[in-house]
Amino acid sequence: MDLRQIKSGAEDTGLMTYDPAFMNTSSCRSAITFIDGDKGILRYRGYPIEQLAEQCTFLEVAYLILFGELPNQPQLKEWIGEITHHTMLHETSKKFLEGFRYDAHPMGMLTSTVAALSTVYPDSRQVLDAESRLLQIKRLIGKMPTLAAFTYRHSVGYPYVYPDNDLNYAENFMNMLWKMVEPKYQANPVLARALDILFILHADHEQNCSANAMRAVGSAQTDPFLATAAACAALSGPLHGGANEEVLKMLDVIGSKDKVPAYIEKVKAGEFKLMGFGHRIYKNYDPRAKVIKWAADKVFEVTGRNAKLDIALELERIALEDEYFVKRKLYPNVDFYSGIMYQAMGFKPEMFTVLFAIPRTAGWLAQWQEMITDPEQKIARPRQIYTGHEIRDVIPMEKRGA
Ligand code: ACO
Repeated sequence: MDLRQIKSGAEDTGLMTYDPAFMNTSSCRSAITFIDGDKGILRYRGYPIEQLAEQCTFLEVAYLILFGELPNQPQLKEWIGEITHHTMLHETSKKFLEGFRYDAHPMGMLTSTVAALSTVYPDSRQVLDAESRLLQIKRLIGKMPTLAAFTYRHSVGYPYVYPDNDLNYAENFMNMLWKMVEPKYQANPVLARALDILFILHADHEQNCSANAMRAVGSAQTDPFLATAAACAALSGPLHGGANEEVLKMLDVIGSKDKVPAYIEKVKAGEFKLMGFGHRIYKNYDPRAKVIKWAADKVFEVTGRNAKLDIALELERIALEDEYFVKRKLYPNVDFYSGIMYQAMGFKPEMFTVLFAIPRTAGWLAQWQEMITDPEQKIARPRQIYTGHEIRDVIPMEKRGA
């Protein structure tokens, strides 16, 4: 703010930075996630993503992201118990969902229903109360898979399945998605673990578009359900979390491996972007994409190979050798392979961004909590460079001409 004292004259508002899309502006100090985009490094609270994906469960990682340290055994047991306790939805939430058309996009339903939970939990407005914040955090992490599964069941016209507290986080989600008439749903352990790994990889990614939305909206002391809905809305865009769905559509359009070179030429001619490629921060291979490729192999052992994988591998091979992509440092990002894996596991492409929103809720909440408790933070309010008219007088209607 001291720079504002540098003025060219009395009328000047003072020196300000102009940085569209915050390309080089830090909006906060954060101790949650570290990324080195040039080296392809991602760490949560100091731990490399690869180690977390291999050795931990999603709820362990959510605890780490939220509270700063990995839980010990009793802490984890208590945490799992608390999250499990909050998986049920108030019955009115089902009614919100019933109002949507049969073909409503699951992400639109999720965003609106998370927002609606704000009315179910008016106590969530006490954002300056640490105890209340913790309760809302548990509610949100517990309920997101339930909401997500209900959006899917609505879209296929199946009855909703209630949470089963015997199952772990990923298994229970699969139960609520896919249980039919069997008395007890049995998740395939390989697929459940793969889903849990995907949740770990998506848990946080520092100040991305949706985290920034969460912080900006939360900075007005808006309750966390509404702030999470804002973050979901940001995530749903095709340039952000919507990209995984777009990758699948793109692979369908390409159709077969031999058509890849022609498609790449069109991308280079600027007709469209290669979805799942490029990243604002990573100018190297996205470390999450590497783990996903490894996890995908395990999934394909169970489900059989997804035919789209060959097209994706060919796209990657050609793009990584092509000067256009090399010069611009465009590498596969997290969304490039996740969609193929999700599809092999039985998810519809419309659900992909919803699958991203479930684990990212932990990251959004950690970012929100950090923002609320940071004495340096205030309501987010960027400045602008006004480019409109100087003052002018309103011309009466009869004199404005035809
Ligand atoms: N395909 C083709 N060209 C691309 C791509 C792409 N996927 N991404 C960037 N470029 C080109 C741009 O056209 C630009 O070229 P130019 O210098 O000739 O104009 C150059 O690379 C730099 O790109 P920018 O748009 O400036 O990069 P930015 O950091 O603003 O965008 C983004 C990053 C939005 C992710 C972009 O790479 C993109 O649209 N990718 C496709 C969508 C996608 O996969 N999004 C998911 C990101 S991961 C996530 O959010 C979870």
